[in-house]
Amino acid sequence: MKLIKPEYLIKPEPAVLAGAVERLYDDVFGPARFHKASYLFREGVAPVQELSWIALEGDRLVGAIRYWPILVGETGHSALLLGPLAIAQDRAGKGIGRALMFKTLDLAAQLDHDLVLLVGDVDYYKRFGFVPATPHGFVMPGESRPDRLQVAPLKDNVLGRIAGEVRHLHTGLPAIAVAKARRAPRRARAR
Ligand SMILES: CC(C)(COP(=O)(O)OP(=O)(O)OC[C@H]1O[C@@H](n2cnc3c(N)ncnc32)[C@H](O)[C@@H]1OP(=O)(O)O)[C@@H](O)C(=O)NCCC(=O)NCCS
Repeated sequence: MKLIKPEYLIKPEPAVLAGAVERLYDDVFGPARFHKASYLFREGVAPVQELSWIALEGDRLVGAIRYWPILVGETGHSALLLGPLAIAQDRAGKGIGRALMFKTLDLAAQLDHDLVLLVGDVDYYKRFGFVPATPHGFVMPGESRPDRLQVAPLKDNVLGRIAGEVRHLHTGLPAIAVAKARRAPRRARAR
């Protein structure tokens, strides 16, 4: 029997590849990605360094995943927002997404995070322990597809104990307020 080794390796994202990761995200999701409600929570916030991982085939970047610190609910409970996860289109279906997901979720649990939220396809993310978040009281204001908001608890007794609106790490505001705050300076500049 011949064992086939994976053609790729996964490793933490080095700072030098940050631009290449952005280009991969552009290729996979297009420029419209910046209009998603989930992006409002990333403005002015750095991704969690330990959870930013990439997949390489030789020198070629073929996958990337990032997580962002967010707050949840009026008490401002710390949580993670996963995304984007992107695999180069011609490398899809080879287990690269799965490898990046399992590795980083495992690390997130080791780093003592309580829960991860994301907006994505339920049928893909359920294999990693994600369930629809709305029935558990999570809300991402401004998200046009709340059925795509999902949560993975990383500890026991998280669901039911932690819930509420997703909030920006620094401002503590929900997305709609972040969007308004973002528009306000532009209007002020135009005057
Ligand atoms: C979606 C994505 C992250 C998956 O990563 P990947 O490395 O291609 O997937 P994996 O090899 O880990 O897993 C393949 C499995 O996921 C399934 N799958 C892939 N994309 C899926 C989707 N959008 N919905 C449901 N299942 C999906 C495949 O059918 C396959 O199932 P199987 O294991 O039963 O055969 C990647 O293809 C990607 O970046 N796609 C472009 C962005 C996108 O479509 N995002 C949608 C999800 S938010």
